[in-house]
Amino acid sequence: ALRRPMVAGNWKMNGSALLAQELFKKFAAKLNNDAVEVVLCPPTVYLESVRQQLELHREALNGSIVRMGAQNLSQHDFGAYTGEISGGMLTDVGCKYVIIGHSERRRMYGETSDVVAEKFAAAQKHGLTPILCVGESGPAREARRTFEVLAEELDVVIEKNGTMAFDNAIIAYEPLWAVGTGKSATPEQAQEVHAFIRKRLSEVSPFIGENIRILYGGSVTPSNAADLFAQPDVDGGLIGGASLNSTEFLSLCAIA
Ligand code: G3H
Repeated sequence: ALRRPMVAGNWKMNGSALLAQELFKKFAAKLNNDAVEVVLCPPTVYLESVRQQLELHREALNGSIVRMGAQNLSQHDFGAYTGEISGGMLTDVGCKYVIIGHSERRRMYGETSDVVAEKFAAAQKHGLTPILCVGESGPAREARRTFEVLAEELDVVIEKNGTMAFDNAIIAYEPLWAVGTGKSATPEQAQEVHAFIRKRLSEVSPFIGENIRILYGGSVTPSNAADLFAQPDVDGGLIGGASLNSTEFLSLCAIA
């Protein structure tokens, strides 16, 4: 399959308009790489800053593929939902992607698998490609329940959205014990899970299984990325901490 590797930076609640400027200054000088798709997911209020930088540097990017994503969206289209942002609004400001079901949202903001499945549907309805995060906790891994947890998380979305919904989606495998801990999964652990996810989707549709991009996330840095990204079923990374450092992020884009 021809799966273009992706490096997506999830700034979480970090960064600024200045970080957007700094990143694009580096990209303009050094990215020069259309073999990788780069996605920036800043806090919602900085999407416009990123969009401006993208436009400003379009020519200097020289064909490199840089796109925008949001970190969350509402499952609703519009209405009395104070503080929420709809998929239509994200499309409107130039997003192509949206992260769905990040473990921080599942754990700290009470997002159930059902809500995650609804958000997945809302994203696609508004022309966004969901980046669906799945992953097991440390205790679940120790109890050898990793595959069970992942199958559940995937199946809820498949049931709600139908079998072909993954035709337009990205999956990010983020083991909770590796997120922000400095303790990445080993390349073997990542490959084992990615292969499991791909196989599960292949049972739904061989075409989707073959073509869907599965990113690894959890303490990816320039020093461990090469081995992780070299695994046959790892199609790039969802990067937290290292996406805030323009030198490190650029080097991850070169490795992918
Ligand atoms: O969305 C990104 C992940 O949660 C990984 O974060 O690279 O800081 O461990 P991290």
